[in-house]
Amino acid sequence: MDVELRTERLLLRQPRRGDAPRIARFLNNFAVAGKLSTVPYPYAESDAYWWLDRWSADKPADETGFMLELAGEGIIGNCGFHLNIHKQTLLGYWLAEPFWNRGFMTEAATAVLDWYFAATTAEHVRSGLFHFNKASLAVQRKLGFTETGEGTLHCLARHEDLRHIDTELTRARWAGSSERVQEAWPSGLPVRTRDH
Ligand SMILES: CC(C)(COP(=O)(O)OP(=O)(O)OC[C@H]1O[C@@H](n2cnc3c(N)ncnc32)[C@H](O)[C@@H]1OP(=O)(O)O)[C@@H](O)C(=O)NCCC(=O)NCCS
Repeated sequence: MDVELRTERLLLRQPRRGDAPRIARFLNNFAVAGKLSTVPYPYAESDAYWWLDRWSADKPADETGFMLELAGEGIIGNCGFHLNIHKQTLLGYWLAEPFWNRGFMTEAATAVLDWYFAATTAEHVRSGLFHFNKASLAVQRKLGFTETGEGTLHCLARHEDLRHIDTELTRARWAGSSERVQEAWPSGLPVRTRDH
């Protein structure tokens, strides 16, 4: 869906072809690519164009994602939804390493989840992380995700199957965190949807 969201520090907008050089710069980093399942390493600009060429703003909410744009800087990451092979909606995200540990992904994912639960009737969102990904686990715990099981998932950058923790956030749990959401958004949801 062609949606833009605003948070305190970020513009969350649809990807553009002009994003390719920065996407490639930030994903061509094993510290990032090695924690994602479907991102190759090394990662070239052609990989970014390949991904961007398959992007469409016509897709449903379950396949809508956002680039994170920081004023004065440009894009610094990505956060959004995709369907797995079982047609389950998964939240995925990455942030450029120079911007880690400043709360950017928690801020972005909070807005993205607010939008998703408002725009759909979905009862839950799934996600997960490779077993060693402590930062992602911390982000998901802050958001209210809980662990539902584990399995193995292939990591393209590492060329191996790795232990993967499965997680889930229910609509009820997200609604129960409205106090925290209210703190983050005292004046209501900063949502702008172009096709509504
Ligand atoms: C995971 C990622 C998106 C987090 O983004 P971020 O903007 O740094 O996240 P936030 O600042 O909102 O929160 C990070 C949390 O992780 C914690 N953290 C970071 N490194 C940690 C570590 N080694 N051990 C434990 N906690 C850690 C931080 O302390 C913080 O938690 P806190 O607020 O409770 O202190 C970013 O690290 C990233 O892109 N990593 C590579 C790609 C990736 O892992 N994507 C997710 C795949 S599941």
